[in-house]
Amino acid sequence: MKALLDVGSIGAAGLRGLLDRARDHADALRAGERVVPSLDGRVVGLLFFEPSTRTRVSFDLAAKRLGATVLVLDPDRSSINKGESLRDTVLTVSSIGAEILVVRHSEARSPALVHTWTGRPVINAGDGTNQHPTQALADCLTLEERFGSIQGLCVAIVGDIVHSRVAGSLVDALRTLGAEVILVGPDAMLPENDLPRSGDLDEVLAEVDVVYLLRIQRERGVEASDDYQSRFQLDFDRSARMKPEAVVMHPGPINRGVEISVDVADGPRSLILDQVACGVPVRMAALEAVGGIDW
Ligand code: NCD
Repeated sequence: MKALLDVGSIGAAGLRGLLDRARDHADALRAGERVVPSLDGRVVGLLFFEPSTRTRVSFDLAAKRLGATVLVLDPDRSSINKGESLRDTVLTVSSIGAEILVVRHSEARSPALVHTWTGRPVINAGDGTNQHPTQALADCLTLEERFGSIQGLCVAIVGDIVHSRVAGSLVDALRTLGAEVILVGPDAMLPENDLPRSGDLDEVLAEVDVVYLLRIQRERGVEASDDYQSRFQLDFDRSARMKPEAVVMHPGPINRGVEISVDVADGPRSLILDQVACGVPVRMAALEAVGGIDW
């Protein structure tokens, strides 16, 4: 694999291979293993042109756990502020020695451009409203660890789906692995496609195995209507109507009191921190895959 730009292009076998490798890493981490030096001495560049907490930090730790050296570009203090273009910036970082590039950017498909310009392996760490493949992998690993298999699960994705790169990748991954997906939200937040959809969270709650909540992407120009919380917030009463074994997920950052209530975010159904923890083994597998490591 020369690049991990989206879920669709890696296919079912690629997805399965990454998840199996990630599961091995997760088991090794739990068993106390700290470093698996398959990228020993290689240089991983983290190029985050949009804010990030969990994705950036888990790529950083994943690269270090593989024995790589991590080179972090801080765009706010880089020559981008002096008018340097994205192309010149990434060619510079690549010439300095970054061999694998992890790219987050507000423009859809810019990680693909970075791959073309530099010829380096690239992982898309979130591009605009397009794709976020390693988040989808982390979510699938989380679900497989909880349910054993994704095949046959019914997942409601709730909220600002049209602006969500997380949803973009997750829908592809879940369907490839045999889950049913239903999109839930106000009309203006649902994309045009032929997936099952509902404007009524209460109608689907009791039927699904997973309620996957999304943040409203205000930075992409969307605002919640006044009735958003009363219609779509997953609160205690709604969570009580879910199936006994059903779970709640969210890629973070969570806005407590908007799409999820405080008690549900911290409650027994919540897998939010499991998703975060799965980010490290999944990103280890992704870095190895684009780094040409056979496992
Ligand atoms: C998401 C992102 O940046 O795409 N966060 C993440 O990576 N876990 C979701 C978001 O910003 O809402």
